[in-house]
Amino acid sequence: MYSTIAGTGRYLPERVLSNHDLEKIVDTTDEWIRERTGIERRHIAAPGETTADLAEKAARRAMEAAGVTPAEIDFLVVGTTTPDVVFPNVGCLVQERLGIAGCAAFSVEAACSGFIYALSVADRFVATGKSRCALVIGAETLSRITDWNDRTTCVLFGDGAGAVVLKPAAEPGIISTHLAADGGYKDLLYHPYGPSRQRDPERDVEGPFIQMKGNEVFKVAVKTLQGIVDVALKANGMDQSAVNWLIPHQANLRIIQATAKRLGLSMERVICTLQDHGNTSAASVPMALDVAVRDGRIRRGDTLLLEAFGGGLTWGACLLRY
Ligand code: UT7
Repeated sequence: MYSTIAGTGRYLPERVLSNHDLEKIVDTTDEWIRERTGIERRHIAAPGETTADLAEKAARRAMEAAGVTPAEIDFLVVGTTTPDVVFPNVGCLVQERLGIAGCAAFSVEAACSGFIYALSVADRFVATGKSRCALVIGAETLSRITDWNDRTTCVLFGDGAGAVVLKPAAEPGIISTHLAADGGYKDLLYHPYGPSRQRDPERDVEGPFIQMKGNEVFKVAVKTLQGIVDVALKANGMDQSAVNWLIPHQANLRIIQATAKRLGLSMERVICTLQDHGNTSAASVPMALDVAVRDGRIRRGDTLLLEAFGGGLTWGACLLRY
């Protein structure tokens, strides 16, 4: 038995912040942001709008697309690094809103790889018959942990949520998932504080925001992503030419182009949403998937390669037949 994607959905907050808007906030230019990242605009959650709000809306759209009711969901997992509160986890918050008490509901904390990690867990439950209908969400409000005075990070991130419904199938579906991490790179991309390591104003100079050594992250991202797409193909004895669509994490157009080049894929075969969404961490891959499913580029039977990379450092890939 395999799991298969029965439906996809996304939700983006209403407010759009363009590169030109950012020119008024920090010392940057639209030209610099577009040339170095490929990003043109991003969505920002309204005051009071939380990760669970975005996640719920994306989830309802995915369930509608899959033709399932909330009552059918028996497993709920959310990839996020910006939960509403320390606990209850975002999965429980979404579960309560959907009125589906009883099923497992939890979140996975793997930064930008959170959706691939969550998908990998849900796939195991569905493919082994432990779940008949799983809801997998990637949702973030990164704007809440972004330093809006730091031009090296604030131009990159955005808010949003994407979701998929997984159901059992006799044929794949999800062919394989591959997860990896290297905590040795923890100082390249991180948030310095949390419930157990609180900010000491006497000692800690860093603010409570995302910290990133962009240049170094860039190099490791290119290397590890090229490695993991090779691993995914090799594990299944598949050639690069079998991939119809690459759905990459949307962090930087130059990183995406490097992975596409490795796969010998033209950029027409790569789903790019970063120009409109920015880097939405765990939400980026499921939102890009939903965009391309809904605009008709991705069709049933296509072979997709999903990949992501983020703080941890963590990375992962998923090969699937849509
Ligand atoms: O999703 C998780 C994974 N994250 C990533 O994959 C991010 C990976 N890294 C990147 O995408 C890129 O490294 C960045 C987009 C973050 C930065 O691009 P870069 O080409 O690596 O630029 P840089 O950091 O080497 O900075 C080049 C110059 C610097 O000025 P000097 O020292 O050369 O005078 C920066 O101060 O650009 C300057 N700069 C800016 N200028 C205008 C940095 N940020 C900005 C800005 N506007 N927003």
